[in-house]
Amino acid sequence: MLQFTKSSISEMSKVFRLNLINSCTGYKSANLIGTKSPGGISNVAVFSSVTHLGSNPPLLGFVIRPTTVPRNTYENIKKTGVFTVNHINSSQIKDAHHSSAKYATDISEFDKTNLQEEYLDGFFAPFVKNSNIKMACEFTNEYHIKENDTLLFVASIESVYVADELIQEDGWLNLDKANTVAINGLDGYTKPTLLDRFKYARPDQKIQSFFENDT
Ligand SMILES: Cc1cc2nc3c(=O)[nH]c(=O)nc-3n(C[C@H](O)[C@H](O)[C@H](O)COP(=O)(O)O)c2cc1C
Repeated sequence: MLQFTKSSISEMSKVFRLNLINSCTGYKSANLIGTKSPGGISNVAVFSSVTHLGSNPPLLGFVIRPTTVPRNTYENIKKTGVFTVNHINSSQIKDAHHSSAKYATDISEFDKTNLQEEYLDGFFAPFVKNSNIKMACEFTNEYHIKENDTLLFVASIESVYVADELIQEDGWLNLDKANTVAINGLDGYTKPTLLDRFKYARPDQKIQSFFENDT
């Protein structure tokens, strides 16, 4: 196996390091964050750092890169307090990637891609129309990560929208059926396949699949 030590990583070219370190922690979630400025300009951008923080209260978090350059998502959330998180599905990957392009503040990525904005139940921020799983979120807090000047944004999940056929009786969402993709590195989009789903693990008990009979 190849070994890359901390000192060899520090001597790599920027692109090689970026690709290696973005891939080595595994697949990441693939979401579009929708926001709108107080003046009404909508914005959508791909984020791979959205992660579950807790279910009671329902919380998620995501990392924002250093705000040393203008970041519309950051500005809009700070000014309006709300945003949406929309799963990227396999039919949206090109447009999702396009949404990372640095468009000027007065330009909406919804006008530059085939992604369509939609407004649900009076929520101020735009949702992405064809996403099968989407959430309305309210900003609650930000934490400065001093090691690299990034920000961890924490938000409460105010609503979850799910296509009917994706939810199981116990609340579990079938992301495979939803065609939700994952991100490999910073530019690879992949479609994971569900292998199995297991019941709660207890010491010294055989692991049981949800899809097999108990007997
Ligand atoms: C696959 C992928 C994942 C990304 N994930 C993040 C992320 O987690 N945090 C972040 O700040 N930027 C991330 N970006 C960069 C943003 O999409 C990009 O900066 C975008 O221009 C932000 O748009 P905005 O200025 O409209 O907010 C990612 C880009 C790509 C291509």
